[in-house]
Amino acid sequence: MIAERLAAVRQEIATAAQAAGRDPATITLVGVSKLQTATAAAAAVAAGLPDLGENYAQELRDKARLVMGARWHFVGPLQRNKVKYVVGVAQLVHSLDCISLAEEIARRAATQGIVQRCLLQVNVAAEPQKSGCWANELPALVERCRALPALELVGLMCIPPASDAEGARPHFRALAELARAHALPELSMGMSGDFAVAIAEGATIVRIGTAIFGERRIKP
Ligand SMILES: Cc1ncc(COP(=O)(O)O)c(C=O)c1O
Repeated sequence: MIAERLAAVRQEIATAAQAAGRDPATITLVGVSKLQTATAAAAAVAAGLPDLGENYAQELRDKARLVMGARWHFVGPLQRNKVKYVVGVAQLVHSLDCISLAEEIARRAATQGIVQRCLLQVNVAAEPQKSGCWANELPALVERCRALPALELVGLMCIPPASDAEGARPHFRALAELARAHALPELSMGMSGDFAVAIAEGATIVRIGTAIFGERRIKP
């Protein structure tokens, strides 16, 4: 089941990339295994999907011990006291959104002797309940992140407001503009319902959960 859904998603990614005149190989598919069992995550890896994303720090820690061969992404809101579960386990943290978190990530990474790759999450529609920095905070945050030697800032991420895919387009476009303005190459945007639009607007990473794994099974 996962293998068939994965093949269908890959086909849609290829179609969207070709329509935008882009090489599908430049788009990384992250399967969001949040609240899916370790067995389901392992099945995705076995079906050829090594990049897996998790939203909860302890769930990442636990699944990373059980599922071999995955490249982990952390895509959920991150509290400073949970950074220890994520640094060095996730090859990319998508949800950095303030300087105190950046400093804690860099501190933990330095202790491990590694450089932690990160994306800054932008609250593109300025929704009060959502994580992510405000767009006007971005220049200062980028500058401060770039001053931390154990943190490598490689791009931006967003979760646009719930709407149809076309409703997300202006937010994806705005994020792409911000990334260009700051010379940041990676753009993590697009989920099950809107990844084709995100690819048209320049996504280099799409984060897809339910279209690959079906409904989430574990109760949070
Ligand atoms: C940050 C983030 N990205 C991507 C996804 C995947 O969403 P979907 O299941 O709609 O593909 C989720 C799911 O909760 C998420 O929290």
